[in-house]
Formats: sequence, structure tokens, C-alpha cells
Amino acid sequence: MLSHPPLSILAIYGNDSVELNPFFEYLQSMAHVKLALEKATPADLSPYDVVISADTSEGDEKTEDLEQFAAAGGGWLKLVHRSTRPLPEIFGAQPGQIGPDAELRVLFDDPNHPLAQRLPDAVYLEGVYHPLKPAADDSELILYADWHYGHSPVLVARKAAEGKVACTTLQAYRHPVLQQILYRLLRYLAGTWDSRKMLGIGILGYAPSVGKIHGLGAENTSGLELRAACDLSPESLDRAQQDFAHIKTYAATDAFGADAGIDLVIIATPPNTHAELAVQMMAAGKHVVCEKPLALTRRETDAMVDMADKQGVHLSCHQNRRWDVDYLAIQQALREGLIGELFYMETFVGGFHHPCGYWHSHDAVSGGLTYDWGGHYLDWIVSLIPERIHTVSCTRHKRVWHDVTNADQERIQIRFAGGQEAEFMHSDIAALRKPKWYLLGTKGAISGQWQDVVEYEPDPVTYFEQHHIPATEMPPDLTLYRRHTSGQIVTQKLAVPERQHYGFHRNIADHLLSGEPITAPLAHSVRVVAILEAAARSAARGGTPEVLDG
Ligand SMILES: NC(=O)c1ccc[n+]([C@@H]2O[C@H](COP(=O)([O-])OP(=O)(O)OC[C@H]3O[C@@H](n4cnc5c(N)ncnc54)[C@H](O)[C@@H]3O)[C@@H](O)[C@H]2O)c1
Repeated sequence: MLSHPPLSILAIYGNDSVELNPFFEYLQSMAHVKLALEKATPADLSPYDVVISADTSEGDEKTEDLEQFAAAGGGWLKLVHRSTRPLPEIFGAQPGQIGPDAELRVLFDDPNHPLAQRLPDAVYLEGVYHPLKPAADDSELILYADWHYGHSPVLVARKAAEGKVACTTLQAYRHPVLQQILYRLLRYLAGTWDSRKMLGIGILGYAPSVGKIHGLGAENTSGLELRAACDLSPESLDRAQQDFAHIKTYAATDAFGADAGIDLVIIATPPNTHAELAVQMMAAGKHVVCEKPLALTRRETDAMVDMADKQGVHLSCHQNRRWDVDYLAIQQALREGLIGELFYMETFVGGFHHPCGYWHSHDAVSGGLTYDWGGHYLDWIVSLIPERIHTVSCTRHKRVWHDVTNADQERIQIRFAGGQEAEFMHSDIAALRKPKWYLLGTKGAISGQWQDVVEYEPDPVTYFEQHHIPATEMPPDLTLYRRHTSGQIVTQKLAVPERQHYGFHRNIADHLLSGEPITAPLAHSVRVVAILEAAARSAARGGTPEVLDG
């Protein structure tokens, strides 16, 4: 797989390790980052690119050594934790008076700052209002907080001979955007942040469903540029050219794979072609993002992973539904412990409709009924229950739709090593739908009920037009149930975050261009295929439990 340029960090911290832990965990989640934790400044700083020093007692920090380290080309980030103790002059800023605890609206002073790429314009951070006072002409104000109709500096950087230093009073170390900013800042201080890099994107299979989405995702994400599309069908290539006039089009994969302007290929062809095309593109030296499901069998995913390893390129799956607001709300509720420990979950998709006559309904191409939505639902399940899987069982019904080869209904049940159970059911013969989500935890439950939205508009000929928004595209109605100490069950709506567009494309750019963690790791998408394959085996044997991870 792709390896990113290494970054070696030393963190010298005192009493604040607990507060800092979420940030340290974030750093440690990146394989190319080496983080050493020390209570005092070691004699030899040469193994490190950058040093973080937090609220250490004064003597331990060895200010002079760190100043020399920065002057010689290293980076030094000082985290100011509710302290008004003067900072070493090298930082070009001093802490001001500590104000009240507050949620701060924090912005980049220069919205086009190299560190601001692909980040929201403003971020809301819990903490304390604690301004920094720039104290040198060459201090660089990076972040400010809105305060009383003024801009209060909260992150200031400065050049220090060959190196760079910075200080900040922000402390919301759990916040994912602050984590990103601080990681980027560490690279910036170490002199290894390059925001000018661009990735040329090529779409292989300009699918009617997702071709344009990938094109727009690339065009709306800084650092990505759509350069080409390849498709066997001239009509699909025409559509690509109409949607994006500036791109090159290819009718053959060989020539497309040889285009040096393409760094990342997004594969959006039918599932039974994913593995072969992905291996071909990686062999040509391209990074690959493949549509879901990643492939149809474990043998295929093994070959894909082997090629990614051999070529040192990136491979992952377009798990765009990791940004669906209902999934994000449930993930957040679990992180906050709102239902205690999750031990049982059921998920459902479907209804009672005649399946389409296209490849989606034919198992030799699609993989089978559960391979389509299962590519998303099983990815949600493996991310919400990050445990080893013990067994997978599946039952199947073929009773109504005899003109297609996919089953009418499949129910996959997963048993995890810790005893947790999860189910995904897809039915095309369910006149009554089950809830989309049904989760039980040791302190409560969450349900997600489908929302059917129909819009009407007047029409002079037909009197009115009726538009259905497919229930699968509407966030379900999420309810949280908690057991009160009185024994009563208290219910409340579960808040959902604001919808964000192109989250997947931003994340892939963050990962490939700066090494930031990938939200939907390849291992999860590989595991989804392993579950689907084991489920198909189980169904063929009448529902026997298939052992997955041993
Ligand atoms: N992530 C999502 O939300 C999402 C949504 C819809 C579809 N998908 C996935 O996108 C993929 C495409 O689905 P679709 O329904 O749009 O399919 P489709 O058959 O409508 O479109 C596929 C396109 O690929 C082209 N193609 C097929 N084989 C090719 C080859 N060997 N070389 C070059 N081009 C080739 C076809 O000509 C066509 O233009 C599937 O993997 C599907 O699961 C994902």
C-alpha cells in the first residue's frame, strides 16, 4: 500500500496527558507518524522533526535546547493550557488574560492559508477564551477566535532561523478538525507541508449513477482535478464529455492506464469487473478507488490487496455512505455512550417492488441480492462493531420474482467474538418494511424509522405532479430510548449533523495528499466482501453458520 513521508514527533508533556490523549491517538492512527512521549526534554533531539511541549513544569522543558533545535531547522509547537506564564521570546506571542469557558468560533486569518485546504471555513471549539498577543513583527497569525466583534489570535506561528515555531491556546483535542489542523501544523513546522500537490483523476466506467458525482466531487475538492474518463460505451463517453468538456476520453483501458496525467482511477463499472480492472490500473502505477462492493470474492480482494502492496499504491472503496447523517448520528451516540455498550443490531432495506431488469438483479454480475446495499450496510456494521467476527449465517427466499436470478430476500446474521449480534436484511417482497435501524445497548436503544416523502406540484395538464424521494435517500427518523433510574424509558429525537457534500472526495484528497487517516479503511471493505461471500456459502447450505475469522 501507499506509504506517506515519515514524520517523527516528540511530545513533552506534564500533567495534561489525559486531555491530550485523543490527539495522540489521532497521530498514532497514521502509520507514517512516529510519536515519542517524554516527561522531560531528552538530551538528543536529533531523531525528531518536530517537538510538542505542553504544560510541563518549567525546568523540564529545557527551553534553550528546544530553541537551538528550532533554529537548526526543527519545529516546535507549544500548547498553552490555561497558563499566563510568559512564553519564550522565540514564539513571538504572549498569553493574554484567561477569560470564561466558551464555545469559540475559530477561523483561519487567511482563508487561503496552505493549512486550510479542504477544511470548513469556521470551526466551533469547546474550551476557554484565552487570546494570544502577538509580540513580534514577523509573527504569523494562523487562527483567530471571534470575540466581541474582534479577531482574537489563538494560534500564532513564527520562523526561527532554519525552523519554525508555533503556539496555541486551543484545547479541544477531541475535535476532528482541530486534530487535522494540528497535524498539518506539525508538518508545516517540520517544513514538510506542501499544499500545491494535485492529483489527476480518471473515471473508469462513466456510470449513469455515479459518474457525474465522482466528476463533481473531483472538481469541487481542492487538490483533485478531473482529467479523463474511460468507458466501453460511446454513449457514456459522450455524456462524460458533455458533463465535463475539458476532459480526455478513452475507449480502451490500456491507453487510459498509460495516461501520465492520471494519478487516481475511480472505478465505477459493474461489480464483477472491479477486481480485474483495479489490478490492471494498479499494475499501471495508479492509485485506485473502487465502487462498492469492492469485489465479489475474497480471492479477488486478496489479488487487489497484493497488487496494491506490490506497487505501493493506494486502494480503497467508495464507501460514501459513511457520511450519511443517520449513520454519523448513531456513530456519535455510541461514542458518547448514550446507549451503553452496543450488543445487538438489526438493519433493513427493501420493500415490495418488481426488481429491475438490469444487471443489478442478476447474481453473476451483481454478486447477489445483498451485494448492492450490503456494500453500505455491512460497512456500517463492521465500523460500529469493531470486533472479530465469529460466524456468518444467511437465509434466502426465492418465491415471487422468477424473471431475475437474484434472490427475493436475504437475511445475513453476524455473530461477533464478543457475543454481539448484527443483522442485515434486504427484501424485495416485504409489503411491510422493518425499521432501517434497530440497535440495543446496555443502557438504551436507537431506532431509525423510514421517512416517505412525497412532493406535489400543480400541473396544467395532469392537475398535479407527484414526486417520491426514495426512502433510501432520506435520513430516517432517529429516536433514542434510555432507561431512567426510575425504571421509565425516556425517549428523545437523536440530533443529526448537518449534511456535507463530497465528504468522501475530501477525505481521499486529505489522505493521498497529506497522509491524514482514511475514514473507511480498505480492511473494512475487504471484510464486507468476506461477509458477503460467507453469507452466500451459508445460504447455499441452507443457512449454516460459516466461521469467518476463526
Ligand atoms: N456508492 C454508491 O452510492 C453507488 C451508487 C450507485 C452505483 N454504485 C456502483 O457503481 C458501479 C456502477 O453501477 P451502475 O449501476 O451505474 O452501472 P452501469 O452499468 O449503469 O454503468 C457502468 C458503466 O461502466 C461501463 N463499463 C462496463 N464495463 C466496462 C469496462 N470493462 N471498461 C470500461 N467501462 C466499462 C459501462 O459502459 C457503463 O457506462 C457499481 O459498482 C455500483 O455498485 C455505487
